[in-house]
Amino acid sequence: MENLSRRSVLTLGAALGLVAVTETPKAWAWSSANSIAGTNTVTDPWDVWDDDTDPLVAALLDNGQVPAVNAAFNSFIRNGDPVPSGLPPALTTYLNRFNKLPSWADQAKLDRAAQFNKRMSMYLFLLYGLGSGIMSTVIPREARNVYWSEGGADMKARAAKTFTYGYDMNPVDAFKPTGKFITTSTKTRLTHAAVRHLLPQSAAWRGVTDHPIPISNGDILITFHSLGTYVHRKLVEWRRYGLRISAAEEEAYLHMWQVALHLLGVRDEFIPATWAAAYEQSEYALTPLLAPTREGIDLADILLNLTSSVDLGITKGFQREFARYLLSDEIGNWLKLPRDFISRGVIEAGWPTYIMFREGLSPIMPDTFSMFDRFIRGLAMLFLNNGTSPSHTPITIPTQNRPG
Ligand code: HEM
Repeated sequence: MENLSRRSVLTLGAALGLVAVTETPKAWAWSSANSIAGTNTVTDPWDVWDDDTDPLVAALLDNGQVPAVNAAFNSFIRNGDPVPSGLPPALTTYLNRFNKLPSWADQAKLDRAAQFNKRMSMYLFLLYGLGSGIMSTVIPREARNVYWSEGGADMKARAAKTFTYGYDMNPVDAFKPTGKFITTSTKTRLTHAAVRHLLPQSAAWRGVTDHPIPISNGDILITFHSLGTYVHRKLVEWRRYGLRISAAEEEAYLHMWQVALHLLGVRDEFIPATWAAAYEQSEYALTPLLAPTREGIDLADILLNLTSSVDLGITKGFQREFARYLLSDEIGNWLKLPRDFISRGVIEAGWPTYIMFREGLSPIMPDTFSMFDRFIRGLAMLFLNNGTSPSHTPITIPTQNRPG
């Protein structure tokens, strides 16, 4: 046993369900020289939370003002909506200061990103929905935070709220006064601040975590890599099947995520300035921390059942194998996703030809085309119907932890 490294003991033990998974990342060594701020400092984002937001939301919770704020937010949807009257004055001041784009936001790049999202939409439904969604369950801190927070008890409602974020990020006017993404991001930032105040009061959460306060800047960066960086990696990988992505589109897609991170309260000194810097940060901050947890296995099962509860025209085995194909068999094994080798063969042979046909590189429609098409359209419908609820599910600030 002495010959095994601490990491391999923890990983092996976790896989066997014997010991707690480590949540502790190694000390931060990513230089801010490659960040938006461009300063050559090394501040540790694992110990940076959100000083502008956390005390404000803690006070709102302690004073019982959150339900009234959530109600007032029903009329605060579009980026150009005025701040509702009658809010606590400190919140009004906060919204006037933070509910806006950073000075470095580039509207031309955001417009290009919106066009790119539109063109890539079918792939994005699959990659965010099945890829990033399931990856979030093998990020130990995130899985445990989600599980033990209020929304963890009702994943259908929670998924609908998370869809709202993606739904608001993608329209062509997302960052304009008629769009909703800035306001939705601000509500998410406030929600995260509430979780930072509430979760430390949960004995169940304290029992499984090794960090005193959840959702640090470092944690948000990890989640970004499971979303933006992961999606970018896969789209670039699929260039070999004929996907066309220009350098300007790649840059624009990164810019959209840079703005999104800023709106969530991540400091500019941690936001990667280029894809190369983002990959470097991801290799360092996301990849080594991926691991199974009891909570994550449970959440993955719930999420996968949620999508297979809608008739996507495919079997459960096909869906689980697609998740494995998009993420890796190691992650699939961690999550105990059942094997379906016939479906796997169909996916490995059929997915590249599906892309080639869609992108006009092959004139012959593959036999399996309609199966892939139905699957992705089904995922798209699930997303567009906002988790099976016909309306835009508003993001609300939680007031308690997971009940029970
Ligand atoms: C809530 C997005 C990072 C944990 C939310 C919500 C959105 C969101 C849209 C509101 C919807 C809801 O209540 O479910 C994001 C994005 C992130 C990010 C885009 C990074 C790019 C994280 C991280 C963690 C986390 C790193 C934990 C480590 C939570 C929790 C909730 C939440 C616990 C509250 C759920 C509840 O209401 O009980 N997030 N998040 N998030 N997020 Fe995040």
